Amino acid sequence: MQHNAVLSATGLWTPSQSISNEELVHSYNTWANQWNAEHAAAIEKGEVEAKPLSSAAFIEKASGIKSRYVVSKDPILDPAIMAPRIPERPNEEISILAEIAVGAAKDALQNAGRDANDVDAVLVACSNLQRGYPAISVEVQDALGIDHGFGYDMNVACSSATFGLATAQSMIVSGQAKSVLVCNPEICSGHLNFRDRDSHFIFGDVATAILVEEESRVNGAGYDILGTKLKTQFSNNIRNNFGFLNRAAPEGIGKDDKLFVQEGRKVFREVVPLVASMIAEHMAELELEPSQLKRLWLHQANLSMNQLIAKRVMGHEVSEEDAPVILDEYANTSSAGSIIAFHKHHDDFTSGDLGLICSFGAGYSAGTVVLKKR
Ligand SMILES: CC(C)(COP(=O)(O)OP(=O)(O)OC[C@H]1O[C@@H](n2cnc3c(N)ncnc32)[C@H](O)[C@@H]1OP(=O)(O)O)[C@@H](O)C(=O)NCCC(=O)NCCS
Repeated sequence: MQHNAVLSATGLWTPSQSISNEELVHSYNTWANQWNAEHAAAIEKGEVEAKPLSSAAFIEKASGIKSRYVVSKDPILDPAIMAPRIPERPNEEISILAEIAVGAAKDALQNAGRDANDVDAVLVACSNLQRGYPAISVEVQDALGIDHGFGYDMNVACSSATFGLATAQSMIVSGQAKSVLVCNPEICSGHLNFRDRDSHFIFGDVATAILVEEESRVNGAGYDILGTKLKTQFSNNIRNNFGFLNRAAPEGIGKDDKLFVQEGRKVFREVVPLVASMIAEHMAELELEPSQLKRLWLHQANLSMNQLIAKRVMGHEVSEEDAPVILDEYANTSSAGSIIAFHKHHDDFTSGDLGLICSFGAGYSAGTVVLKKR
């Protein structure tokens, strides 16, 4: 028997603190000016390059980002630290990644009118997992009080949420679970080099959650998942070499490549056509026309990138109604971005309306999920 999967609700957890471009640039430029003064002689001799200054106007124009939420504001802005500070917790206390996932999960369950014990499987799908093991998802399962089923973690960088949605759908279709909770906790400030002028503005922290259920459990509400499509193609243009073998190569510890690094312009150029053609292919496979899509809930990395993708797909200039923007307020929140866009911008959908969630990022990886309002 075929079991159909329904996206019944989403949830959002947002940190209480945010940083404006102006605050971030002030902190970076204070540090860069100090560094340049300390290294003036070496810079003069051409032994080292001066640190270039950042600009809030550049950031907004190049990316569309105006601010970002973070779990630890003051240390990020302190020129002597410029990283989040999150005190280590004893094993008896919930880890911060699980904690924010639980915050988003409770919101999703409440929005769906479900009890945590209705959930059979928990997937934590995100870019950065806090530890090797035990899996964060098992901790989330326990913290929610789910007394049956299973959980596991997945990492497909910025595409983790759509790959997680595809996994959840497969579980429902195969009959392995009747209700799957996909959580996307993203503490991106932990992997961001706040002393790199070209990327210090990119990321923010947040958590989202998505409840996917077997059709018979849902009374009318939600979105039918008409199809999912996944794609990966190897690229070094977005990379982070942090990992458990770093201690086996001590000469590399502390180097910039153990944090997020990217060739932003190349990513822009290569990913726009990849994603636009993937969406067209997916619609064709479902025997649907792209013009039937009321909305694209796109990954939130760069405003112009999204406008270009949406224009190619929809065939006309796009408005915020066609492709909602949340990166102005949240910045790039990795896997959570397209889910925040969906979460905040779907209330006007009526029965039969079609929309598409699309994520893309490191790998390269891209995922599309076509939804139809029930
Ligand atoms: C990162 C990104 C915003 C940079 O914008 P861009 O227009 O490509 O900018 P560039 O890096 O080419 O830099 C343009 C100029 O601005 C300068 N610049 C870079 N960062 C700056 C900053 N913070 N402040 C001021 N100037 C800056 C550069 O030095 C360069 O100067 P030049 O022209 O004199 O050489 C953009 O490339 C992007 O968003 N790409 C997509 C990334 C993506 O989707 N990644 C997925 C990650 S999950």
